[in-house]
Amino acid sequence: PLKRLTIPAIRRQKGQVPLVMLTAYTVRNAQLLDPHCDMLLVGDSLGQVIYGLPSTVPVTLEMMAAHGAAVVRGSYHAVVVIDMPFGSYEASPEKAFESAAWLLKQTSAAAVKLEGGTAMAPTVRFLVERGIPVMGHVGLTPQAVNVLGGYGARGRTPEEAAKIVADAKAVAEAGAFALVIEGVVEPIAIEITRAVACPTIGIGASVECDGQVLVAEDMLGLFDRTAKFVKRFEDLAAKISGAAETYADEVRSRAFPGPDQSYAPRAGTVD
Ligand code: KIV
Ligand code: NA
Repeated sequence: PLKRLTIPAIRRQKGQVPLVMLTAYTVRNAQLLDPHCDMLLVGDSLGQVIYGLPSTVPVTLEMMAAHGAAVVRGSYHAVVVIDMPFGSYEASPEKAFESAAWLLKQTSAAAVKLEGGTAMAPTVRFLVERGIPVMGHVGLTPQAVNVLGGYGARGRTPEEAAKIVADAKAVAEAGAFALVIEGVVEPIAIEITRAVACPTIGIGASVECDGQVLVAEDMLGLFDRTAKFVKRFEDLAAKISGAAETYADEVRSRAFPGPDQSYAPRAGTVD
């Protein structure tokens, strides 16, 4: 089996073969995705994808810990990164350290991810200097949906573009080992990728990043909401519906269970 990758190995891959990252929330998805990925992200997108919540804002540390532990148990190759949920880190570096340390103790994951730019840079530095690797996340930051007003692409005005680039630089200079760039026009992704020393991981940020991430359920065709930047590599929703339909038909017609799925009495036993 492949040995688990390390944070420094991820960092060194900037400008090399693009880094591959997918979300995972459950042990079975982790097992299936792990051999193909450099990193697995236990994203707070699980709020919508697994729990049907309207945004990531209600997601708790306890939810992240439960899913994070499952993903670590189901993987042995990829670096597992866990999102810090809204409310668990913004108030102060000390609060962030307490939350992040608890998450890593509960799960044995390698690193945390948190959203934000210049305002969060001191927090990123505080965690990294105390032994917690941090992945940044700039551009479209879904935990700020109530401030941003929606999930549209960011950085379409020169002012907003300059702010996103400044955010990225601040988080990278504070010691982030990698940086998710979400929902920005290509020139911003290019500028950030050239400006920062750590790898950039794009989602809706063009092919110019040092790696890519998608929500696994989106690329598998399992989730009903999809952004422009999602490519469906499979249509699992159709396969699951089809299997359920066939099962229902076979139960109702008594075609299932057949002899192969039934226990025959063994000769010589009595009960
Ligand atoms: O929560 C999530 O899935 C994410 C990725 C889409 C980057 O933050
Ligand atoms: Na997230």
